[in-house]
Amino acid sequence: MNITMIGSGYVGLVSGACFADFGHVVTCVDNDASKIDRLNKGEIPIYEPGLDELVATNVRQKRLSFTTDLASAVRGAQAVFIGVGTPSRRGDGHADLSYVYAAARTIAEALDGFTVIVNKSTVPVGTGDEVERIIREIRPDADFSVVSNPEFLREGAAIEDFKRPDRVVIGTEDPRAREVMAEIYRPLSLNQPPLHFVGRRTSELTKYAANAFLATKITFINEIADLCEKTGADVQDVARGIGLDNRIGGKFLHAGPGYGGSCFPKDTLALLKTGQDEGAPLRIVETVVAVNESRKRAMARKVIAALGGSVRGKRIALLGLAFKPNTDDMRDAPSLAIVASLAGDGASVHAYDPESMDQARPLMPEVTFHDNAYSPIEGADALVIVTEWDAFRALDLDRVKQLLKTPVIVDLRNIYRPADVRKRGFTYVSVGRK
Ligand code: UDX
Repeated sequence: MNITMIGSGYVGLVSGACFADFGHVVTCVDNDASKIDRLNKGEIPIYEPGLDELVATNVRQKRLSFTTDLASAVRGAQAVFIGVGTPSRRGDGHADLSYVYAAARTIAEALDGFTVIVNKSTVPVGTGDEVERIIREIRPDADFSVVSNPEFLREGAAIEDFKRPDRVVIGTEDPRAREVMAEIYRPLSLNQPPLHFVGRRTSELTKYAANAFLATKITFINEIADLCEKTGADVQDVARGIGLDNRIGGKFLHAGPGYGGSCFPKDTLALLKTGQDEGAPLRIVETVVAVNESRKRAMARKVIAALGGSVRGKRIALLGLAFKPNTDDMRDAPSLAIVASLAGDGASVHAYDPESMDQARPLMPEVTFHDNAYSPIEGADALVIVTEWDAFRALDLDRVKQLLKTPVIVDLRNIYRPADVRKRGFTYVSVGRK
């Protein structure tokens, strides 16, 4: 198959490289010439484990290439994927679809022969209809079919998620498009993931429903964690106790500082806007968004309380800034709100993250950045774990204790065992545990 991928950001680049690895010939397109230049030189603009080798191998084998020339990449392609960003629109929280529609217009002009146009970007219900209308208006003669095929991969585990998905949701009622999509995903048949064929609108909504449900699960366990703290229960044990019930499932029940990242915050917001517009408000999702938002500031208050009610003039060491480990992504990271609150209350914040500091620097001008995990701790009044990188689990806690001015650890990800930390003489505050 000849596949064109429009948008060489996170979803586009990972999907393009994986499709090439399946044996298809893939052209990744982006209108950012400097990004395409870097990709052509073999530089990967994002941090994602394994992606650099995957790209290099497939470029070498001539199955993967990069260009800014969308029109020529569309000509001759059997499938054109749209994997551009759909950020929150300023002001109203709706998904901003301008990049999707701009891609649709350019595709329309270059179409030749039957082409399946596949929306991989996360888009509100009805976007496929609008893409189809735009293309039809520009090219009434063209032979094409618009399909929805949302992406469920997680940052940090993107390649594995792409190659071993729990399911592939494909929204189309057109038998010709169905055949093309089945062929594209045929290499997955060894692992037998269900190709779940549904209507286009159903597919679009499925993606939002999945993310909103997961965000709800996290928010639920976070509130249970608060209750555990008040009642002397242990949230890890509660999570395991409920998660062993197959109807609930054990994943996404890890209490922490609230969800962040490039998807959950914007997708929950976009979904609840759609619900309001359609007269079917999603009150649970509305609450989830509000609870998660307030949780980030509550985490800063937890740190302040652990230091006796004030952080004015105190030095605080933060380990982990990215919204989760194994990524350099700072989008909607809980660390942003935590840093703002602590610095706003007069603390001097010193931080280290293994991958995200280049992204974090411009977002947190008040923070002093360090190039290793130990130096922010030196002379600090407390150590706060914000992101659960494996490297932080392996810290030498005796050394940490020597470096800290006062032996206080606030662990917002529950990466240590309370007994281990306390026996070393730390005051240890975690989430939802005694
Ligand atoms: C998510 C979805 O998992 C993925 O299917 C979708 O395509 C994009 O959004 P991602 O944003 O990469 O992926 O990260 P994910 O691992 O899902 O974590 C999202 C946030 O939830 C992170 O801030 C993480 O720390 C938090 N989280 C996750 C918890 O606080 N507790 C959990 O148990 C799980």
